[in-house]
Amino acid sequence: EELLQLAQRMPKAELHLHIEGSLEPEMVFRLALRNGVRLNYPNVNSLRAAYAFNNLQEFLNIYYTGMSVLLKEEDFFDLTWTYLTRVHQDNVVHVEMFFDSQAHLERGIPIDVQISGIRRALQNGKEQLGISSKLILSFLRHLSEEHAFETLKLAKPFLDQLDGFGLDSTEIGNPPEKFARVFARCRELGFKITAHAGEEGPPDYVYQALDLLRVDRIDHGNRSLDDAVLVHRLTDEGKTLTVCPLSNLKLCVVKDMDQHPILTMLKRGLKATVNSDDPAYFGGYVNDNYRALIEHLPVTREDLYQLARNSFEGAWITEEEKTKHL
Ligand code: ADE
Ligand code: ZN
Repeated sequence: EELLQLAQRMPKAELHLHIEGSLEPEMVFRLALRNGVRLNYPNVNSLRAAYAFNNLQEFLNIYYTGMSVLLKEEDFFDLTWTYLTRVHQDNVVHVEMFFDSQAHLERGIPIDVQISGIRRALQNGKEQLGISSKLILSFLRHLSEEHAFETLKLAKPFLDQLDGFGLDSTEIGNPPEKFARVFARCRELGFKITAHAGEEGPPDYVYQALDLLRVDRIDHGNRSLDDAVLVHRLTDEGKTLTVCPLSNLKLCVVKDMDQHPILTMLKRGLKATVNSDDPAYFGGYVNDNYRALIEHLPVTREDLYQLARNSFEGAWITEEEKTKHL
């Protein structure tokens, strides 16, 4: 009880959040109505009932379908603003969010519509909720590197509104090395880099993210624990892992929450953080993820402080901004 309260009231940063993954079924229906989009589900409950997955790909199929209701600037605004007001209740004070630009481009939504809707909500979040934020364009790894380069070109006029680049979608069969050149270009442009690695993929993909993409963070990284040398490398370099407990459970990356490796990660010196990934699909926001850990693992007060501290230390903010939060 006391731990739950502590987790609830601690100021936190969320570093692994796909904004399209915060699209709740209710909003899918509201936007479908507003935009005249036909859905293949008769009601909210039948859509929510479809949110049962055996692996990452089964989730992604539903996730890419769900976002088909996002058409206009105000849709991206409403989505982002709704997320911010929700996590404000969780005492999230800083957010670094992904958006899947290519998924929207493929549906004919211009990049300026995407970015300006999201950015306008982030600005409101700063002014009205005191939530600071970063925006990360995440390349889809099931598409080609050429497609990623074309997207980077489309983003050129808006680079001042982006803070970093990421890599997500179908991991197995799409190793980081496939995107070495485009991330080299992003780094040359001065951007931070992160990549999903070791969610379903092997430790080798985490090595590739470090060596070939030169990432600043690893998203998920669970399977790093299979390789003791890799664990040492990650601790030596002080690399943050953006861990997503409820996501891991729902996508069967872990069998049960009581098997979740996050405390093992902390014990081995890894800078693990707690994040929601796709909260509308996986059963909860940041504090729900903390609650799941507290209810199923021998979490201590010190663990909670460490996880919250890690979230600010791993954030792409200045040392001065960090000390304000720590
Ligand atoms: N896109 C949205 N969530 C994702 C995840 N957990 N892994 C890979 N791609 C994603
Ligand atoms: Zn993710």
